Formats: sequence, structure tokens, C-alpha cells
Amino acid sequence: MKLFKTQQELKKKLEGYSSKVIGFVPTMGALHKGHVSLIRKAKKESDIVVCSIFVNPTQFNESTDFENYPVTHDEDIKLLEKAGCDILYIPESVQDVYSNEKPIEVNLGSLAEVMEGANRPGHFDGVVQVVSVLFDIVKPNKAFFGLKDFQQYCIIKKMVAELKLDIEIVGCPIIREDSGLAMSSRNILLSKKEKVDALIISETLKFLQKEIKAGEISDLLNTCKEKLSAKSELEYLTVADLNSLQSLEVLEKGAIYRAFVVSRLGNVRLIDNIEIFV
Ligand code: PAF
Repeated sequence: MKLFKTQQELKKKLEGYSSKVIGFVPTMGALHKGHVSLIRKAKKESDIVVCSIFVNPTQFNESTDFENYPVTHDEDIKLLEKAGCDILYIPESVQDVYSNEKPIEVNLGSLAEVMEGANRPGHFDGVVQVVSVLFDIVKPNKAFFGLKDFQQYCIIKKMVAELKLDIEIVGCPIIREDSGLAMSSRNILLSKKEKVDALIISETLKFLQKEIKAGEISDLLNTCKEKLSAKSELEYLTVADLNSLQSLEVLEKGAIYRAFVVSRLGNVRLIDNIEIFV
């Protein structure tokens, strides 16, 4: 694996691969098995796999979250080598990423106004900004995103469509620990007790998935909210339409939806979701 610290050197290297299928996995580091699954999928579907590690300041709406974000470059590099990544970009500075910054205007519509968009003002503007810059540097044919951040995946697809970029956005399944906890870079910030309490998130999603029926769902949602609030500080739980991501209170038989939850354990904000068949 070759490591590049400037976009200039990286672009020069990638010029040599213009006839190859480039698969790109953008990350913020503190890599885990979820990221490894993205690299493996990229490896299967591309000739050259490029990964980036950059804790993007513009997508954090809480300064403590940014300051506490785990940085584990040495371990990340070993893990990426083992997973078969070919090229890694760890920018030497924030300026290296944003050097040619021409603020990007993308109409994300109502997709960015719900859930994470509503609860983390400016978050998706920052994500769109950094991903569009990284796409411009790497010029991938395919880019791989985990479905744990399902709304981010939808927003990146929308961004690619709006900007008419010829990049296939591949959504990859959520990878869970044996306990059911969704893998996340933030999990290493959890204490032992918080990690046990955090299981309420995946357990409640599974309960919701099992119990949900067509029709009015507010009673079931309230029961689930109570379960979550007993062990964590619930931010939201909602069942939403797969395309518009708008919250729904009445479901139709035979349809597929997704349930989304964000809850805090101490200072750690955890996000998860699950597919719902009615
Ligand atoms: O999902 C993430 O890790 C980040 O939001 C991303 C896509 C790497 C942009 O900084």
C-alpha cells in the first residue's frame, strides 16, 4: 500500500490508473471491521482501491465531538494493508484537502432536513463539501459507504445525481459486533458499562422489527422509546420512508421501511438503523 500526504502527489499517482476501475472508501479513520468490509467489497469490484483518512472539521457541529474523535493512524494503516487497500491518502493538513475550495452548491432538498440534518445543523453541508472535494481528487468509478449512516448514503447519491458525476455509490451492510452493537469508530470511547447499556439500541431495533405491523405505530414507538430512554439518552427514534426519509406514523402492508435511532451513552452519540418489512 502506498501512502500519500498531499493531494498533488496522490493525483499524480492516480493519473497512471485512468484506464482502471478505481474504488474509493472515504473514512475518518479509527477503522474497524465495518471499514474492512467496505475495503473488501471495493477490492472485489475495482482494480485499484483508494482509501482516505481525514477527520473533516466542517461536518462536526459540536467542537468536543471533533476534538474527541479517535485518531489511530498506526493501527489503521496495518488494518488497511491487511485488507488489501492499494492507496491511502492521509492529508498532512486541512488546507491540503480544501486548497482548491470552490464552495459547492447542491440542492439536497428535504433529505437533509430530517433526522441528522435536523439534529446536527450544517453536518451534511460539511459531508457534501468534503466528499465532493475527495471525489474530485480521487476521481473514482465507484465509492463505498456503510449503511449505518443510511441518510448520508442517500445524500451522497443525491449529490452525485445533482452534480451529474459518473460515480456509482455502493451501499454496504451494517457490520455488528457479536453482541449486536453496530460497529462504529466512536465505540472505543464507550466505558465498559456504556458498551453494555448501548446494546439497548440494537435490541430495541430488533424488537421493533419483530413487533411492527401495518397501521398506526405510535404505541409501539412509545414502548420502544421508553426502553431506549431507560438505558440511554434518546435523541430520536423514527420509522421512515426509504426514499424520502420522512417519518411515518401509519404503515402499509407489504411495504419496506427503515427504523432509525440516535441515542447517547454518556458523551458518545451512537447511530443505528434497521430494515422493516411490514
Ligand atoms: O462516514 C464518514 O466517515 C464521513 O462522513 C465521510 C464520508 C468519510 C466524510 O467525512
